[in-house]
Amino acid sequence: MSQHIDPGDYNHIVFFTGAGMSAESGVPTYRGKGGIWGSYSIEEYACQEAFERNPRKVLDFHQKRRRSVLDCEPHEGHRVIAGMPEARVVTQNIDGMHQRAGSKEVIELHGSLWRLRCQSCGFKKEDLGEEYETDRCSCGDRLRPDIIWFGDMLDAVVMSRASEAIRNCDLFISIGTSGTVWPAAGFPDLARKSGAYCIEINPEPSGATSYDRVIEGAAGEALPELFGVSRL
Ligand code: APR
Repeated sequence: MSQHIDPGDYNHIVFFTGAGMSAESGVPTYRGKGGIWGSYSIEEYACQEAFERNPRKVLDFHQKRRRSVLDCEPHEGHRVIAGMPEARVVTQNIDGMHQRAGSKEVIELHGSLWRLRCQSCGFKKEDLGEEYETDRCSCGDRLRPDIIWFGDMLDAVVMSRASEAIRNCDLFISIGTSGTVWPAAGFPDLARKSGAYCIEINPEPSGATSYDRVIEGAAGEALPELFGVSRL
């Protein structure tokens, strides 16, 4: 790959990541071969109705995901991003890999596997173990994973922080997302309309027309190469 990027040439960099960012760490993506939604139905495991029907089944599914994510480690690509603390990370991922690699201030559009939220009073609780410490809020109602499931609204504050970061950026690098889930799927267009130079990294590029440059490759290899960082 020619044409290294020098972060010093840009004022505001945004990394916009999806499940493919964690694929080389061993976390499965959602769609395509081996994708989570190929083995687990959204209607049974990833919507409020499923949780109301059978909370234990939905919590067990998320605990299983927590255990498998704890067995994975961030890769070189995560570390390249964490090495640019002034850049903003906007992620659709709930796995916490960017934070484990050292990124601070990660904007988590779809919530986190490592937080619970009360569905009545809105109380949020960090919960980092393999198993949830409790599934009850002090107000008496159930705690549910603080994840944006299908049919849930995105958090308005999180969404506006993400949009603002993207509107202000002059380099936008999208990594490992199929670009099929809205409103996040609109971010590459927003970045382009805001005048940012837009790059996509994906072994199977999304085909979106928003990108100035498409790198057909895996995150863990393409990111160190793009920034001229020698791999450990
Ligand atoms: N490096 C970069 N990209 C990769 C890699 C890799 N090593 N491996 C796979 N990919 C790409 C795939 O080609 C695909 O385009 O990652 C993308 C993963 O797409 P999805 O599984 O659809 O994941 P994502 O776009 O993050 O999904 C969005 O959908 O189910 C919801 O809430 C969930 O946040 C998720 C949202």
